[in-house]
Amino acid sequence: MTNIGVLISGRGSNFEAIARNVAASVIPARISLVVSNRPDARGLDLARKMGLNARYIPSQGRTREEFEHDLLAALAEKQVDVICLAGFMRVLSADFVRRFPQRILNIHPSLLPAFPGIDAQKQALEYGVKFTGCTVHFVDETVDAGPVILQAVVTIEDGDTVETLSERILREEHRIYTQALRIVLEERYRIEGRRVLISPEKN
Ligand code: GRF
Repeated sequence: MTNIGVLISGRGSNFEAIARNVAASVIPARISLVVSNRPDARGLDLARKMGLNARYIPSQGRTREEFEHDLLAALAEKQVDVICLAGFMRVLSADFVRRFPQRILNIHPSLLPAFPGIDAQKQALEYGVKFTGCTVHFVDETVDAGPVILQAVVTIEDGDTVETLSERILREEHRIYTQALRIVLEERYRIEGRRVLISPEKN
């Protein structure tokens, strides 16, 4: 069975959704490692409470090389095949990413390529778009720009604040991250150029 490693920095609600769906066998894999680069991440506590192998690997005050050296060692020790970035706030080096081709997924709270980077929900509100959403994509050497696996659209209402909008996007994030993971783990896709073409589920 595929070993998943989840990388987080904070709240960990996407991690939680993935973990629940792994436990319910909706995602055909096991979580062999959860890593946070922040010691106070709520997700780290959650992972420990779930009895998962959870580790804090500090990034602050260290070079990217030092951090990634420890991260790689932990991933190797736990034989991680697929890495899920879930609110992980560090950019991974090209060197790191090249070691896991089509094996690192990320979730971003906008319809990429619109509003990459931080505060994507705020960016969308301030720009005045009528629709935004979320994107699960493969991570390559570019930031927030790897091939798109799935997206979900969320309508922006006139009364929306960053909080209300983020909450509705988050619900979609939890749904499509699981769906995207299933597609990748079941190898139900092929990549043509930048396009990720998905085949239907086998029954
Ligand atoms: C999510 O909005 C995700 O799209 C973004 O960071 C947030 C993480 O939330 N990359 P959580 O830690 O999964 O609750």
